[in-house]
Amino acid sequence: MLPEKRPMSQTIEHRCDLLIVGSGAAGLSLALKMADLCDVIVLSKSDINEGSTRYAQGGIAAVFDDTDSIDDHVKDTLNAGAGLCDEAVVAFTVRNAKESMEWLINKGVPFDQEKNENGETKFHLTREGGHSHRRILHAADATGAAVQKTLSDNVANHPNIRLFERYNAIDLIKSKISPDHCVGAYVWNRKKEQVEVIRSRFTTLATGGGSKVYQYTSNPDVSSGDGVAMAWRAGCRIANMEFNQFHPTCLFHPDAGNFLISEALRGEGAFLCHQDGTKFMHKFDERGDLAPRDIVARAIDFEMKRLGADCMYLDISHKPTDFVKKHFPNIYSRCCSLGIDITTQAIPVVPAAHYTCGGVITDFDARTNLENVYAIGETAYTGLHGANRMASNSLLECIVFAHAAAKHIVKRIHETWIDEPIQAWDESRVIDSDELVIIQHNWHELRLFMWDYVGIVRTNKRLERALRRINLLKQEIDEYYSNFKVSNNMLELRNLVCVAQLIVMCAMQRKESRGLHYNLDYPGMLDNPEPTIIQKEM
Ligand code: FAD
Ligand code: SIN
Repeated sequence: MLPEKRPMSQTIEHRCDLLIVGSGAAGLSLALKMADLCDVIVLSKSDINEGSTRYAQGGIAAVFDDTDSIDDHVKDTLNAGAGLCDEAVVAFTVRNAKESMEWLINKGVPFDQEKNENGETKFHLTREGGHSHRRILHAADATGAAVQKTLSDNVANHPNIRLFERYNAIDLIKSKISPDHCVGAYVWNRKKEQVEVIRSRFTTLATGGGSKVYQYTSNPDVSSGDGVAMAWRAGCRIANMEFNQFHPTCLFHPDAGNFLISEALRGEGAFLCHQDGTKFMHKFDERGDLAPRDIVARAIDFEMKRLGADCMYLDISHKPTDFVKKHFPNIYSRCCSLGIDITTQAIPVVPAAHYTCGGVITDFDARTNLENVYAIGETAYTGLHGANRMASNSLLECIVFAHAAAKHIVKRIHETWIDEPIQAWDESRVIDSDELVIIQHNWHELRLFMWDYVGIVRTNKRLERALRRINLLKQEIDEYYSNFKVSNNMLELRNLVCVAQLIVMCAMQRKESRGLHYNLDYPGMLDNPEPTIIQKEM
């Protein structure tokens, strides 16, 4: 088939004070904080509710119990982070946790409550790995769905927020007059299949993580690291991409898709075991099943490889049936639909890529090194998580830093626009009939070798192998990108290859094993570890 030529057309241009790329917990919280003061556009690659937020299960960590303390939450976060957290950022986040949760509660998030022995109604707090106290606010085992729905209901009613669904941000547009400033973004309108421009005074990247770069992941399809890739191409500083977190327990079943089995099960007494019921976590860490995630995921990986097993098992069947159904209704019914009754049998589980601890470097105001570009949520590297994120600290970071960004943008809201002409998008590119199969092939290849070579256990040789393949794919995709009309798959693949490259670059720089980065060639830990910081030469 001959390629289809498209005529040159005028690029459509929208304008707003604040462009927020991403409609998860981070993006929507910022939108709601700012919308009374300025005109906001929120972009969402799919529908407003699709993103990791909606699938979050366990909950959100904050000190609500009288026997708990800010100091203990800080200490636990630092321990889980394996010596690489920024202590000031941890203290800042934990100190602001209660206020952030109260903001969510005021917006209407229905966190579970219960009556204590004195008849007082209190929030029910659950536990997860690494936490020394019960401190996780939750809405049964579907906390993220409750948060996402509440925030999107609030956004839907706000006259100053324009929501652009099925729009992919492609790249930030930098000012020609003042190159450290961003004047907006090129975006792909998926319904009309055309590139448009959004001109903005302030731009915030809230695109979530990049765990889709791995073959097995707990994340939804939109998690392709677009914000990190866009920021990298625009010259933002990036850190700690080697620390991709693998969640220890995703459901192992051919029809399960990406279904997570929350760590809160272990918080409420579930244990990991072999098929015959033998427990094994105590061999790896004295905290047993409630050790931080990096340790548990590696232990499962080790046992699977040692025994040549396809999966390990998580057992909560010793708890009363009513208790299991009340606390984990979502997990109970999903497993039942696949023929697994978790009240009577153990659940088959495997680790899967779950969370991007690294990202775009930001400060206490969520600012990046580009003058008017902010990054929040999983896209950002604030320094909170170090070498391994503690469970339920991520949604917390989304809200705390969305509020921090809002405070800073408010102070600058009267600054003038950089009003310069923006170059129109070249629409003369063609549709190529071979494109789909090649993109599909490259996509699978990338995710498979990232899983095999840059997964839970790494070596120098595997990292080198991965980098050679990434460079080839990058060349091929760059050629496609400059010659052919854009599509969602092509944009995502271009970003995934970039994310893969950043993970490998960071992994190669770290000459030790720490937290989520485990390299057999450097099994020990260095005395004075530093974050891995990278920036594209411009
Ligand atoms: P997301 O919620 O992922 O939203 C990203 C948004 O960006 C989406 O709207 C997407 O469409 C949009 N987007 C992406 N790229 C583009 C683009 N190019 N153009 C336009 N829009 C774009 N954390 C906890 O703290 N507690 C938990 O219990 C918990 N459980 C989890 C369970 C699961 C299964 C998963 C996957 C994660 C869990 N996490 C949990 C992690 C947490 O959910 C995420 O880190 C957090 O929700 C990220 O929020 P976010 O707003 O940064 O991004
Ligand atoms: C879970 O419920 O196990 C996920 C919690 C998290 O990722 O913070």
